[in-house]
Amino acid sequence: MPRSRLFQPVTVGSLEVRNRLWMPPMCQYSAAAVGPELGRPTDWHRVHYGARAVGGVGAVIVEATGVQKEGRISVNCLSLHDDAQIPSFARLATLIHEGGAAAFIQLIHAGRKASTRAGWKEPGPATAEEGGWQIAAPSAIPFDARSAVPRELTEEDLHGIIAAFAQAARRALEAGFDGVQIHAAHGYLIHQFFSPASNHRTDRWGGDFVGRTRLAREVVRAVRAEIGDAPLLVRISATDWTQEYLEDGRPGWTLAESERLVPELVADGADMINVSTGGNVSDARIGSGPGYQVFAARAVRRALVDAGTPAPVAACGLILSAEQAEQILVDEDADVIEIARVLLTDPMAPVAWRARLREEPALPSQYLRGTKR
Ligand SMILES: Cc1cc2nc3c(=O)[nH]c(=O)nc-3n(C[C@H](O)[C@H](O)[C@H](O)COP(=O)(O)O)c2cc1C
Repeated sequence: MPRSRLFQPVTVGSLEVRNRLWMPPMCQYSAAAVGPELGRPTDWHRVHYGARAVGGVGAVIVEATGVQKEGRISVNCLSLHDDAQIPSFARLATLIHEGGAAAFIQLIHAGRKASTRAGWKEPGPATAEEGGWQIAAPSAIPFDARSAVPRELTEEDLHGIIAAFAQAARRALEAGFDGVQIHAAHGYLIHQFFSPASNHRTDRWGGDFVGRTRLAREVVRAVRAEIGDAPLLVRISATDWTQEYLEDGRPGWTLAESERLVPELVADGADMINVSTGGNVSDARIGSGPGYQVFAARAVRRALVDAGTPAPVAACGLILSAEQAEQILVDEDADVIEIARVLLTDPMAPVAWRARLREEPALPSQYLRGTKR
């Protein structure tokens, strides 16, 4: 019987991953905001990620984790800015591996979208008493009316941030993760540099395409230099959904710029591009409906092939069924499918999706006996 594509292995850089149905990063806002446990995974994280690995995804990408304390999104986000945090992350990587999945972790500097309260609390900046801090960004432009005005980052700050990405990546590998993902999407720092909506700089970190993409490229190169041949993933927002979509034609990061950038990122050392969209412009008109971001994965994948730098591409965003996922792979619009919210309510979703595609069940032995009469 012909096998599905979804449950075939996929090779990412030096690593073979057991299948193509992955868990993308999802912040849990469940770490301590202050004190010695700041930024460290808790039992919540261990149960949450361990369960999804047992459920059968190919890879688990742990949520956005700060490369500096001030790089966290919320005060309750994970952080890997200090060697002393390594052991607490090691347990997480072990549990994911014990579930049979590859373990990746997303590294972030949140820039002007940092220092918020936990995602389920009253939106807006955290106060100093709640553990908040002064935010910084490419330019002194707040994200929206509720947000604080960021300080403009200096050349020295930027060198520190590039080094912090490389050091956090080293710590992740020391903790046992197979590889790292650089968060260059959703309106966080690297994406803020890409976009003329948030980057008004006139120095070498702003202006034209080359200036606006410099930070991403330097981060990728620095991380690659630190982690040898371990897999390096980059998540991008392929468009700001502004100038091509809004009547006022406001400038923003465009799909055409993403198509130009991705071969450069691969040449710099990226092994995979995980495609998302939006997040940098608060009133952008973001698409909706099943598979609403697949067009962007398709464009990125073709740009990589056309440039002679092919690399696996992941599609994400309201991919809700095994049939829809399989079709995206059959159409060669992507190489990997990421499902986020589906896994929040159904950690064992891959079991049902395997059955839909007539794959043999792949349950942990502890559960297998229960399936026999
Ligand atoms: C609770 C929650 C937290 C999220 N946190 C992150 C994150 O840390 N990093 C990231 O790149 N995307 C994050 N996302 C976005 C998801 O990875 C995914 O791109 C999005 O939910 C769309 O996929 P879906 O329709 O399958 O849920 C988050 C989404 C949710 C629902």
